[in-house]
Amino acid sequence: MLTSIKTNEFAGSKSKELGMMYFRVAIILFGAQLLMGLIAATQFLVPGFLFELFDFSVARMVHINALVVWMLYAMIGSVYYMLPDETGVETVGIGLGKLGFWVLTAAVTVVVLVYIFIQVGSGSEASIWFIHEGREYIEAPRWADIGIVVVVLIFYWNVFASFMKGKQTGIMTVMVANLLALAGLYITGMFFTDNISMDQFWWWWVIHLWVEATWEVFVGTLAAYALIKIIGAKREIVEMWLWIEVLMLFGSGILGLGHHYFWIGTPEYWWEIGALFSALEPVPLIAMFVHVLYDWGKEQGIAKAEGRPGSVMNNAPAMAWIVTNAFGNFLGAGIWGFFHTLPQVNIYTHGSQFTAAHGHLAFFGAYATILIGMMYMGIQGAYGIKEMKSTFKSKMGIFLVTFGVVGMTVALTIAGYEQVLVERAELGAGWNAFFVAQELPWYVQAQGWRAVMGVVTFIGFVYLVWDLLTIGSQAKRAQEA
Ligand code: HEM
Ligand code: HEM
Ligand SMILES: [Fe+2]
Repeated sequence: MLTSIKTNEFAGSKSKELGMMYFRVAIILFGAQLLMGLIAATQFLVPGFLFELFDFSVARMVHINALVVWMLYAMIGSVYYMLPDETGVETVGIGLGKLGFWVLTAAVTVVVLVYIFIQVGSGSEASIWFIHEGREYIEAPRWADIGIVVVVLIFYWNVFASFMKGKQTGIMTVMVANLLALAGLYITGMFFTDNISMDQFWWWWVIHLWVEATWEVFVGTLAAYALIKIIGAKREIVEMWLWIEVLMLFGSGILGLGHHYFWIGTPEYWWEIGALFSALEPVPLIAMFVHVLYDWGKEQGIAKAEGRPGSVMNNAPAMAWIVTNAFGNFLGAGIWGFFHTLPQVNIYTHGSQFTAAHGHLAFFGAYATILIGMMYMGIQGAYGIKEMKSTFKSKMGIFLVTFGVVGMTVALTIAGYEQVLVERAELGAGWNAFFVAQELPWYVQAQGWRAVMGVVTFIGFVYLVWDLLTIGSQAKRAQEA
């Protein structure tokens, strides 16, 4: 039996409007991320490109920090968007939430300008407070860190108070508990210690326990919500799987941290712990993948048995991105992650382009995809559309962006393979070996292909934005006609 599909009970809700504000900034930052990636990719081919004007270190830093920040924006946007549907009440504290949005956006703007204008100089206590903290992915200076904590507290309070006031569904229960862990972990990346091993030890708590535990559970809640909304999946089924995923991901994800403790000066027992638990991490990812496809197939079967046309689906572009998420998560995190997670392999692949291949496919597959899907849901809600069909632009967007990222991943995997063979195995991984390996044709050509595929990704992004800007009003006109 299908549960009834209601898309617009909270159309015009203030919470959903606030969600859309977050989505808009997210997509702008996504664009900035890609432009920075293109600059950094060009610098791999022409090392002098923009030298001392816009150095590789800056382009790379802005690329990956923008990545994290746009995803956090899109996550907050998704929560504000789904909250009234799940709780059955309008979100509490919207005024405060709006204030938080503007404070955060002003802070992000200042931080990015500082990154771009202050490119070199010595590190000191003052630079940690005002320039950046030098911790990859989460480089925001400490003043901004504190601001982020305050804004996140406001956000968390709004979610928690709405949850207590309204219905407490399984999806929301997982969401509320998980968000607390997600926000709390950020604090472990805020302390400075001058022992590099200790610094890295805690830094991984944020990075690994975000992407391999709390963010994964987070997208599980989004997928559960979206499947109910788009194809009318049964709540009991998606929630059951969600609980199983919570159990498995937290189990394997937490000790899986060990796969980052192999070579940073931590005790050797991490080799065994890291190998065993991180190797188990793909299990929930595979379950998640099977789950989405199973639900989808089952729905088709029910439709057939009831003599209805299959694929009862009220938001085709969102669904396309969510199905891409299932594949992308499985491939990027599950397969590309597993490839290099055992210490026997990682000793050769550590910090190579192989890592970058995995980083691209995993972040894209597991997170970018579903967050873009949520943006399409946001537009459906904002325009009050009963059934949103894919347009030519939606199809070009998803195809080119996905093709581009997969292409980049393949290119980087080849570059990484060459590094493993020549730099690590043959030449012994010294300083000189690093440079020799970077000049050989396999490496140079792979970097060339990565740049080409980056341009393909960017063209896809232009189609995507164009579609997001037009699909709502277009579908609305068609609906009213
Ligand atoms: C969506 C989930 C995931 C994301 C977004 C992700 C992303 C990343 C990124 C960006 C890095 C590079 C970090 C750096 O700059 O040093 C990395 C490293 C790594 N990841 Fe993942 N990852 C995910 C899941 C997994 C899974 C499930 C596994 C194992 C099965 C895994 C195994 C590893 C390993 C072993 C490294 C260290 C690579 C090295 O030694 O250079 N990852 N991951
Ligand atoms: C226009 C497309 C893109 C280009 C040209 C590009 C290029 C680059 C370059 C040159 C680096 C530095 C690699 C290094 O230090 O060796 C990088 C790092 C990274 N990019 Fe991209 N990128 C693009 C899109 C993306 C997308 C869509 C994502 C994820 C959603 C992403 C995630 C990352 C991550 C996680 C890293 C750090 C990887 C690591 O250190 O292992 N990039 N990118
Ligand atoms: Fe990890």
